[in-house]
Amino acid sequence: MSDFTSNAKPSGWLVLSVGIFAAAHTAAAQTPRYDVGRPATQAEIRARDISVAPDGTGLPAGHGSVAEGRTVYRNACAACHGERGQGIGDYPALVGGQGTLTSKAPVQTVGSFWPYATTVWDYIHRAMPYQRPGTLSNREVYAVTAYILYENHIVPANAVLTEKSLPKIRMPNRDGFIPDPRPDVKQPSPRATNKSESHQ
Ligand code: HEC
Repeated sequence: MSDFTSNAKPSGWLVLSVGIFAAAHTAAAQTPRYDVGRPATQAEIRARDISVAPDGTGLPAGHGSVAEGRTVYRNACAACHGERGQGIGDYPALVGGQGTLTSKAPVQTVGSFWPYATTVWDYIHRAMPYQRPGTLSNREVYAVTAYILYENHIVPANAVLTEKSLPKIRMPNRDGFIPDPRPDVKQPSPRATNKSESHQ
């Protein structure tokens, strides 16, 4: 398998790629047709194509204020996450915890842990409320995101968030993540400092 490490000879790669093409071609020819289902329509693909990147790519045009968000939060979120985002039982806190991540009792919240406001928007939009994901309008998601950021002292009480302003918000833990260039890990594990999950 030395061809896979370094200094692979060009001729070796050519032989290898021809081999892969031939194998894929044969597999395709042998795939049985079941004649079930149908190709997804463009509208169906668009409805599921909701990912928002850290830089804000994918955010729909819209806006929502802290004041509106307080109402959305009380109606749709407080029952699980607490009146002001402090968490209830096993339901996670969304507010507080700033400065605790390197302590013995880290409290991970939107305010203390999440590196981007854009991905908070994405998460709420796709996954919350827990029992009815996908039911909030874009405006409600902008508003409730604004409210949670306000409770974390990240935006002021009169803030109105839009697809333009959200990517510009600098979250307190923006620089708290350590790149993990596996398989050549030369740095301490991210878990030694901050827990690194898929929220980036
Ligand atoms: C029925 C209970 C319930 C309701 C209602 C609910 N959530 Fe959640 N929420 C959860 C649970 C459970 C999790 C943890 C999910 C997981 O880790 O997979 C969570 C996680 C979250 C997180 C990620 C927390 C973190 O740091 O990992 C955010 C942000 C959030 N909820 C926002 C909201 C918002 C905004 C609303 C209202 C629109 C809402 N939730 C309504 C139960 C709920």
